[in-house]
Amino acid sequence: MEKHKKYFVDSYPRYWKDAVLNKYGVGEYETAVLQLINSILERMAPDRRILEVAMGTGFPFAVNLAKRGHQVYGMDLSFELVKIGASSSRLYPFVGDGEMLGTRGGVFDITYCIRSSWYFKNLNGLIREMFTATKVGGYVILDIMNGRNWFIWLTIGNAYTCALRLLLVNLKRVLTKKPLTLLSCPTTPSDPSKCYALVSHYFSEVKMMYWDFRYDLSDGFREMSDSNINYPRLIYVCKKK
Ligand SMILES: C[S@@+](CC[C@H](N)C(=O)[O-])C[C@H]1O[C@@H](n2cnc3c(N)ncnc32)[C@H](O)[C@@H]1O
Repeated sequence: MEKHKKYFVDSYPRYWKDAVLNKYGVGEYETAVLQLINSILERMAPDRRILEVAMGTGFPFAVNLAKRGHQVYGMDLSFELVKIGASSSRLYPFVGDGEMLGTRGGVFDITYCIRSSWYFKNLNGLIREMFTATKVGGYVILDIMNGRNWFIWLTIGNAYTCALRLLLVNLKRVLTKKPLTLLSCPTTPSDPSKCYALVSHYFSEVKMMYWDFRYDLSDGFREMSDSNINYPRLIYVCKKK
């Protein structure tokens, strides 16, 4: 297994299973994502089959959709995280790699990957696999961390901040008497135009929407034109025709 993926099996679950509940919870962003997915589901027949790629524990997205009666499959690299989701009824978690889902034909009405694309080194592989897994007439939903946003570039997207992050991780390890590491969370923001080109290669209908966590966007995501391209968080809603 590639080194950065091993990080999600060995180290990340310890952080995420607590952070997803106590740090993130169900805030405005999570509510907006659920609203968006539900608004698409409302236009479909009931009891749809849905796949969350890189689902973590399943909270809050997969768990919520399963509660609404849909058949939800959730996959992640981490067994430790997916087994937490296994206690919810109508939620079927499994361990796997989103870059190699290996589904043969489209089986899902909606395939989504939220708060995770920046951990995939092979974004094309992720999009290709999500496309293949989805039925004709179904949707793929994917959000990205916008590498063109100045705040993201400054705090995450350049070599200096990566080095600084690693330094801070190791400082914490020294203080907590843990062995030093060369791995810190491997986060790769995306270029929105490149991502648009990737999804457009597979999908003929792509809606690009934006979210700006600096402002209160209580009505959820807004559709964007190119001029808004520096919003920190973008979401692509793609229909498979
Ligand atoms: C920030 S968590 C998000 C979990 C969930 N989507 C959510 O929003 O609550 C990122 C997840 O991506 C998973 N992940 C990273 N690379 C992956 C890959 N190649 N295949 C499957 N899961 C992956 C990690 O294990 C982690 O659980």
